[in-house]
Amino acid sequence: MHLTRVEERIYQGEQGESLRKMMEILVALGEIYGAEKLIPVKSVQIAGVSFKNIGDAGLEWIMDLKGRAVVPSILNPAGMDLCRWKEMGISQEFADKQLETVEAYRKLGISIECSCTPYLIRSDLASQGDHLAWSESSAVAFANSVIGARTNREGGPSALAAALIGKTALYGYHLDENRVPTHHIRVEADLKGSDYGALGFKVGKIVGDEVPRFSLRSRPSRDELKSLGAAMAASGSVALFYVDGVTPDPPYAQKEEDLSLDRDEIDEVYDTYGQNCEDADTVAIGCPHCSIEELEGIAGLLEGQHVKRELWVCTARATAARCPDLVERIERSGAKVICDTCMVVSPASEKRRKMMVNSGKALAYIPGLCGIEACFGTTEGCIKAALEPMVRR
Ligand code: F3S
Repeated sequence: MHLTRVEERIYQGEQGESLRKMMEILVALGEIYGAEKLIPVKSVQIAGVSFKNIGDAGLEWIMDLKGRAVVPSILNPAGMDLCRWKEMGISQEFADKQLETVEAYRKLGISIECSCTPYLIRSDLASQGDHLAWSESSAVAFANSVIGARTNREGGPSALAAALIGKTALYGYHLDENRVPTHHIRVEADLKGSDYGALGFKVGKIVGDEVPRFSLRSRPSRDELKSLGAAMAASGSVALFYVDGVTPDPPYAQKEEDLSLDRDEIDEVYDTYGQNCEDADTVAIGCPHCSIEELEGIAGLLEGQHVKRELWVCTARATAARCPDLVERIERSGAKVICDTCMVVSPASEKRRKMMVNSGKALAYIPGLCGIEACFGTTEGCIKAALEPMVRR
């Protein structure tokens, strides 16, 4: 891989051991994937924040680094609400480690806003055509597909390396040749809300890590696109998709595999995973983190009522701060608006028995990553369930 003189000097350690290590990560990845050079990135989003996932070894690694982020850089969700962790049942020991982790990132000049929806809270991070180094799979799918920016799905260390160096290796989704649709999926049904999560859950399993292009009857909203991408990234590992007439166009066309899905096939997800939600002890919404519009919808559904099961509504702290009235209306029902974290990356979920979700991504990840059962419903179905008492089996 070609390095400029400045890059070469960093690689040789002339700017210190931390930057040498960071450059080594970028070069190693570039060489594995046949990159010809490094390219500047507009912003970085860093996974590997929840202490549940990184543990002591990860924390030490971050604390040992010296340097400052040279491009706008932001964190993925942590393992707890950084302020209200006690209400989540998080132990003091975990909280201490989590706060230390976030502080270690802050010292590196990284914004400690912990969210998987950075595009909802900051407009300076990504525009069409920008090269990025983002980590979280749903954010990557949204950035590549809806914004039309270009990013691979970075691991925590490679994203941190990109933050401190300001560059990433030119391969994968940074190149036109990897951004061409491989499957054309015609959806013969009118979709709404969590139907997009169900569609994504289904399609991710079919296409794996390839690039689907959808022809849809209904025009998805921004939040519906975020659910679609998140679910495909989790049930498969889709990092880029297209929706005809909605997302930016592919760079060029090639022969695609044709598929079509009808209402029955979408309903299959509800039928398979939506049964037996009566005994879920917790209902969790906000994967990916809720937008203001979603919080508004939830506040409307809860108005004047009181939850009988635990209801978590996950969002970014910056989103919640923009609509304190909605947060207050939601919490008046007994539900909790949880910031900085989510039902998948927080160890608080492990203490629950069964979780009902409206997200295809949470449905795919909760059983494996939290070791509890998950079931699926629409947003309206989830709220209705939270308002009814749990049925013990
Ligand atoms: Fe975000 Fe957590 Fe879902 S990081 S996309 S809310 S699994």
